[in-house]
Amino acid sequence: MNAQDYINREDKYGAHNYHPLPVVLERGEGPFVWDSDGKRYFDFLSAYSAVNQGHCHPKIIKALTDQAQRLTLTSRAFYNTALGEYEEYVTKYFKYDKVLPMNSGAEADETALKLCRKWAYKKKGISHDKAKIIACEGNFHGRTITIISMSTDPDARNDYGPFTPGIVIIPYNDLKALEKALQDPDVAGFLVEPIQGEAGVYVPDEGYLKKAYDLCKKHNVLFIADEVQTGIARTGKLLACDHEGVRPDILILGKALSGGVMPISAVLADDEIMLTIKPGEHGSTFGGNPLAAKVAIAALEVIKNEKLAENAERLGKIFRDEMKSIKSDMIELVRGKGLLNAVIIRPKGGKTAWDVCLVMKDKGLIAKPTHDHIIRFAPPLVITEPQLKEAISLIREAFKLFE
Ligand SMILES: Cc1ncc(COP(=O)(O)O)c(C=O)c1O
Repeated sequence: MNAQDYINREDKYGAHNYHPLPVVLERGEGPFVWDSDGKRYFDFLSAYSAVNQGHCHPKIIKALTDQAQRLTLTSRAFYNTALGEYEEYVTKYFKYDKVLPMNSGAEADETALKLCRKWAYKKKGISHDKAKIIACEGNFHGRTITIISMSTDPDARNDYGPFTPGIVIIPYNDLKALEKALQDPDVAGFLVEPIQGEAGVYVPDEGYLKKAYDLCKKHNVLFIADEVQTGIARTGKLLACDHEGVRPDILILGKALSGGVMPISAVLADDEIMLTIKPGEHGSTFGGNPLAAKVAIAALEVIKNEKLAENAERLGKIFRDEMKSIKSDMIELVRGKGLLNAVIIRPKGGKTAWDVCLVMKDKGLIAKPTHDHIIRFAPPLVITEPQLKEAISLIREAFKLFE
């Protein structure tokens, strides 16, 4: 089969809910992937920041294969020998009392919303079914009905109603709007991405998170951070909230919690919040399975042992400086933190961000546009400085072709 055959087969038998770049990947290692013809690419998407530890990291794969030969799934109807080890490890790692393990990022977000509502009724004393949660314009928290009820993206919402009530939408990066929304005593939580990834790596003003957190405290409202994309070293700190010394009341993690090996997500909180959920009230067949437990421990160990947050911080600065130095009238703006960056593209002669991505692909680097005019650049955090420099030269060459 050639590349087109693979593409045609997906097109014929798979739902058309994605619009992939025309490249068919077969193998990956570290910051690289290879296509079905054996051509090598720098991966500058990292599966939307899930592969922070690099493709097929040997330590994570070893944890996976070792455990896969022992026990993969017990359900939570029984105890297993791996889950408690992971629960202890992950709660000490992120410094929370408890963890609630799930699988996808969307499920973890849903879990956080349920947890927040439960806390609202059991602890804050909001009347039955009255709790509200504030979310931000431009957010991306996943694809379930409740989560798209928060979305302001017509593509995510149109023709999927009716929507879940109890949601208040305010502009992102707007403390006045937050303060106003917090006047409502039925507000239980504020759900926020420390940097809006899918919106196009939208970085809020310095101090926004800290001030938003303080406002939430003043009004006895839970500060819920969706760090599914920004967490686990991506932005140059373990969590993006760490840049402002904010400790979320509820922390949502996913993606790189497994290093891209399998779907693993988690919600972390202290007892006063987490223990409001009682046995039988919430769960998932696969959440907290022994395979995921071992994989997540290995994935988090790699982050610390290989100092990936420090690498992201250092290389991110180099990346942004280099991007800003490219002379191209297609580059409108460069922004980001750590190795979560974006270039805003000004279309030229009918050529858009998609065309830039196609040319970069031909040069040997894959990235994906978000919202037509933004290209996100998020390589695995194991990328080295010489590799990054090589990748930057490919990006430069690509932009040169549009001059
Ligand atoms: C901030 C954020 N939250 C949640 C999600 C949803 O994660 P998943 O696709 O694993 O459901 C994403 C995915 O891109 C995300 O970026």
